[in-house]
Amino acid sequence: MPKKVIALLGSPILDGNTARLLEEAIRGAGDAGCEVEKIEVAQMDVLPCMEFFQCKGSETCLIQDEMTEIFRKFREMDGLIVATPVMTMGIPGRLKSFIDRFQVFYMAKYHRNHSFISPERRKERKMLFISIAGMNIPNVFDGVLMTAHAFGEIIDCPLWGKVLQNDMDTIQDITTRPDVMEAAYRKGRELGHLLAGGNPSP
Ligand SMILES: Cc1cc2nc3c(=O)[nH]c(=O)nc-3n(C[C@H](O)[C@H](O)[C@H](O)COP(=O)(O)O)c2cc1C
Repeated sequence: MPKKVIALLGSPILDGNTARLLEEAIRGAGDAGCEVEKIEVAQMDVLPCMEFFQCKGSETCLIQDEMTEIFRKFREMDGLIVATPVMTMGIPGRLKSFIDRFQVFYMAKYHRNHSFISPERRKERKMLFISIAGMNIPNVFDGVLMTAHAFGEIIDCPLWGKVLQNDMDTIQDITTRPDVMEAAYRKGRELGHLLAGGNPSP
């Protein structure tokens, strides 16, 4: 059975620079034999967490929307690729709302001490995080990396690899940087090989 990877796009621009890097990583994971499903958060109709806290005592969220199916997929997946631009030094609001809804996983793991993901599965699951930022300033990725790390812990798919590119206001078009495109492809392929239990080298 091929390993299942979810590729999550956080940018509202479906064919922008973030999306291009994600496509490269998807191609890499596909070449490594993974089955990749892309999820575009901007296309989803998802409410933010409302703190109803039904998830304190049950495996479900009181809000019944597209996230119900997403929760199932995130329990089943082997790997995750998250691609997002930096917005106001963090991740875009829609992606943040999407991630906050994983309070359902948080409560299972930290409140009821029974994660949806077994310790054995956690050892195998990995997250590749791709992010771009307009500015060329120090620490521009600090906010998004903290969120990515926390998300990976909550869903037991730990942050494993990163592709980060700042200064996009100058670069404008990521395809003029084949080194970054190549890095996204290689990281996606490496992730795929690791998930399949194979040799990650070229
Ligand atoms: C609302 C908004 C907020 C942004 N905030 C930041 C920021 O705080 N720091 C930064 O470096 N770039 C910021 N940017 C720039 C984006 O990170 C940059 O334009 C990125 O290339 C967009 O990628 P995309 O076109 O694939 O979505 C912001 C862009 C927008 C639209």
